[in-house]
Amino acid sequence: MKVCGKRIFLNGEKYWSSPSPYPLTPTCLLPCTLYTNPMPQLPITDETLRQAADVLLRGGLVAFPTETVYGLGGDAFNPSALAKIFETKKRPRFDPLIIHIAAMDTLEIIGDLSVLNTAERKILDKVTGEFWPGPLTVILPKQKAVPGLATGGLQTVAVRYPAHDAAQRLIELSSGAIAAPSANPFGYLSPTTARHVADALGENVDIILDGGSTHIGLESTVLDICQGQPRVLRPGGTSKESIEAIIGEVSSGSVDKVLSPGMLPSHYAPKIPLTVFDRRTLSSIPGDKTKAILFFDGDSRDTWLAGRLPDNNAFPLAVLSNTGDLREAAAKLFETLHDMEKFDVRQIYAQFAPEHGLGIAINDRLRRASSVKP
Ligand code: TXA
Ligand code: MG
Repeated sequence: MKVCGKRIFLNGEKYWSSPSPYPLTPTCLLPCTLYTNPMPQLPITDETLRQAADVLLRGGLVAFPTETVYGLGGDAFNPSALAKIFETKKRPRFDPLIIHIAAMDTLEIIGDLSVLNTAERKILDKVTGEFWPGPLTVILPKQKAVPGLATGGLQTVAVRYPAHDAAQRLIELSSGAIAAPSANPFGYLSPTTARHVADALGENVDIILDGGSTHIGLESTVLDICQGQPRVLRPGGTSKESIEAIIGEVSSGSVDKVLSPGMLPSHYAPKIPLTVFDRRTLSSIPGDKTKAILFFDGDSRDTWLAGRLPDNNAFPLAVLSNTGDLREAAAKLFETLHDMEKFDVRQIYAQFAPEHGLGIAINDRLRRASSVKP
């Protein structure tokens, strides 16, 4: 028998070492079907989805792709799995998690829709009708069945229906509700590839389902619809403008003590200090080999380079979107910052995107990632 971290391998077969959350099953040495791969990264197939669902049903953790970023999933109804999520991410327990569902019927099991007033109910129907499945998380009054650990003790709960085939199938094959924060250590860059998850959380995750790069690349927009006027608590993959086109005016920013780690000033930070700049201050950004520059578009890079001597051009540079396309830039933001962390530089300069649509979410992440506030 080989003990490998939390996993125990018996004759090449993996056995669960922690107590089962389910009273009807033996409390230890449950065979955790077929999974014998010492590296937890697996391609997505019917078989690996079944294995991953099995791990979830037994209280384990599975990292899985969504259309936004990779999530670190645990069974939403299993407090011991929820505790493992907080432990693995080193996330403060007051920070609530998003519950991922894959059927509209499940919404009522998670959120207590009976306490919504008529206006709130209408808003819920409109936004879910328009944006689900997709990168929008809705804050609702919580049902009692949802463990307090999932909501950080709040009486509200965050719910999201991801638009990713593998995520939906995983949710369906498991309990129907997966609690999943982004699969990164608390405060660091969110993962947009399975490799990012493996590098940051590695052995502490039972299975990492590898679905390639995520399509949107930024987390979902968090919309609170149960505290008066709807409010965007975290800008993300669904733009505020597109929500307003459906439900009218929406406010933004957190009210009093809304607990949103995404709202903490220092979040999504790369390991190298990052400073933000905008187009107006472009020419003042210094260039030398100890500094990396992340431009929003190709035009800005060319303008910046035009002010330098040709032989002086060997700087670590990256561009989010050559054509200045916000979708492309959002999709590449975390991935590029992950790459830049590996540069041998002491400082990253990152340029703001135009402040509209997905640019608002990009700039929000850059502000929080920056060590020197603009
Ligand atoms: O795109 C996403 O949303 C990704 C993928 C995996 O789905 N998930 C994600 O989860 O970004 P996380 O835990 O990194 O961010 C959840 C955000 C936090 O800002 C949290 O504070 C907020 O949602 N949140 C969760 N429950 C809340 C509640 N009841 N009230 C206010 N904010 C809440
Ligand atoms: Mg996160």
